[in-house]
Amino acid sequence: MDLSRPRCRRWRELVLLASLLACGIRHASGRISITQILGIRGLRSVLVLQNVTQDAQEYSWHRGANDTAENMIVSYKPPSHTWQHGPMFSGRENVTKAGDLVINTSTLNDTGNYTVRVDFGNGTETATGYLNVQELEKRPDIWANTSTAVEYMGSVAAHCSTNATVIKWYVDYAQVSSNDRMTISPDLKTLVIYKVGRYDRTLQCETASIPDFPQRSDPLSLTVAYGPDKVQLSTSHIILNGVLAARIGSQVRMSCPATSQPNPKYHWMHNGTRLSVSEATVILPSLSWEQMGRYRCIVENPVTQIVMYQEFQIRVHTAGEAQYCCEQRLQHLRSQSGVAHRDNSPRRRLPLRNPDLRLGQPFLH
Ligand SMILES: *[C@@H]1O[C@H](CO)[C@@H](O)[C@H](O)[C@H]1NC(C)=O
Ligand SMILES: *[C@@H]1O[C@H](CO)[C@@H](O)[C@H](O)[C@H]1NC(C)=O
Ligand SMILES: *[C@@H]1O[C@H](CO)[C@@H](O)[C@H](O)[C@H]1NC(C)=O
Ligand SMILES: *[C@@H]1O[C@H](CO)[C@@H](O)[C@H](O)[C@H]1NC(C)=O
Ligand SMILES: *[C@@H]1O[C@H](CO)[C@@H](O)[C@H](O)[C@H]1NC(C)=O
Ligand SMILES: *[C@@H]1O[C@H](CO)[C@@H](O)[C@H](O)[C@H]1NC(C)=O
Ligand SMILES: *[C@@H]1O[C@H](CO)[C@@H](O)[C@H](O)[C@H]1NC(C)=O
Ligand SMILES: *[C@@H]1O[C@H](CO)[C@@H](O)[C@H](O)[C@H]1NC(C)=O
Ligand SMILES: *[C@@H]1O[C@H](CO)[C@@H](O)[C@H](O)[C@H]1NC(C)=O
Ligand SMILES: *[C@@H]1O[C@H](CO)[C@@H](O)[C@H](O)[C@H]1NC(C)=O
Repeated sequence: MDLSRPRCRRWRELVLLASLLACGIRHASGRISITQILGIRGLRSVLVLQNVTQDAQEYSWHRGANDTAENMIVSYKPPSHTWQHGPMFSGRENVTKAGDLVINTSTLNDTGNYTVRVDFGNGTETATGYLNVQELEKRPDIWANTSTAVEYMGSVAAHCSTNATVIKWYVDYAQVSSNDRMTISPDLKTLVIYKVGRYDRTLQCETASIPDFPQRSDPLSLTVAYGPDKVQLSTSHIILNGVLAARIGSQVRMSCPATSQPNPKYHWMHNGTRLSVSEATVILPSLSWEQMGRYRCIVENPVTQIVMYQEFQIRVHTAGEAQYCCEQRLQHLRSQSGVAHRDNSPRRRLPLRNPDLRLGQPFLH
């Protein structure tokens, strides 16, 4: 049975919470061994004892490559559950019940050899490991020559401020490499995105001088203007061949939603005249004869300067047109106006002059 893997794992999980390491094996004079190659200044380091296959009487940790009494840091005796300090104890060390050496708030001076002696009662084993405590480099800074761009038009150059030589780049939190849209400089410190896209929302660079301890910059936000891609007409009535057929007095809602960054400007034209409406949706509460005719909704992105429009006509409904939608509409109006719904015959669905159906003032004239 290989006991090394699970114990190694256990500590790797702790690393994320508390501090450390890479797994590895150093020289051992018995079967036991020590793993811990890297420590980080200011964080906890753990020298993990491996391959202890029987109950121990004592774990004794020493500074240096041998296990002399002058070098002792701290020891732990499981039978009596007692700890003892040695001359090399600095106040930051302890031995766990599993025999591992824990060093709190590691300093660069903690770098060096460590030797453990394990007393099994019928014999002892020793192992030596080397701890390398490093300074964790600070998070890299990132800057770009602009924070705004127009989709497919603008270019952005971002620079990673670091002395690291291994640098990774992230766009919208996904790692990127040079491709047909972007280039990473040979020294890896600069990313240029040609023809910025709408999903290029954040830029980050990451360095990893110490394996397992990548340092990623704060996300740098890009505001990319785009769209409208298309304008979709949505109305309360069905539009057939560009014609919306509605009854006089009925309510007509028409809307031209569009996706755009920043939000687009909306204009509406009726019979070639601009209406004083600047919303995506227009509601004609009670359709009048003057409100018949040609309509055009215009959607404009002031930044991308893309303009799109949709056109249709409103005509008086003639029998048989758009039955389904009008029936629904009418039932809705009835419930709102409190008109008794007596039967479903087509004639009765047209109380054209019922004042109760005028839910508001005509919008246009
Ligand atoms: C543990 O000991 C076994 C043999 O006793 C050996 O094969 C294995 O490599 C050792 N593992 C470690 C991590 O030292
Ligand atoms: C312990 O190691 C030191 C060097 O680190 C050496 O000078 C000394 O002789 C060693 N002692 C024993 C008992 O091996
Ligand atoms: C090390 O730090 C932990 C948590 O911060 C604390 O519980 C423990 O007592 C410390 N050990 C030593 C020897 O300072
Ligand atoms: C080590 O930790 C134990 C608790 O796990 C504590 O009782 C003991 O005093 C500590 N020893 C040292 C040397 O700090
Ligand atoms: C590290 O060791 C040097 C000399 O070897 C000493 O001057 C310094 O104070 C030590 N630093 C710490 C934090 O122990
Ligand atoms: C650690 O021990 C090895 C031999 O086990 C020796 O070659 C090396 O110089 C020692 N390192 C330090 C910093 O004492
Ligand atoms: C000590 O005893 C265990 C069995 O209890 C045995 O596996 C081991 O080899 C012994 N060690 C020595 C050094 O005799
Ligand atoms: C940013 O840098 C890129 C690449 O050098 C360049 O094409 C672009 O014009 C620059 N943008 C601004 C706003 O300076
Ligand atoms: C890069 O290294 C130089 C000299 O070692 C140092 O002055 C500078 O602050 C470092 N830059 C960064 C971003 O770490
Ligand atoms: C718009 O044109 C339609 C048909 O051409 C007409 O019925 C309607 O009265 C006109 N309305 C306005 C306000 O021009």
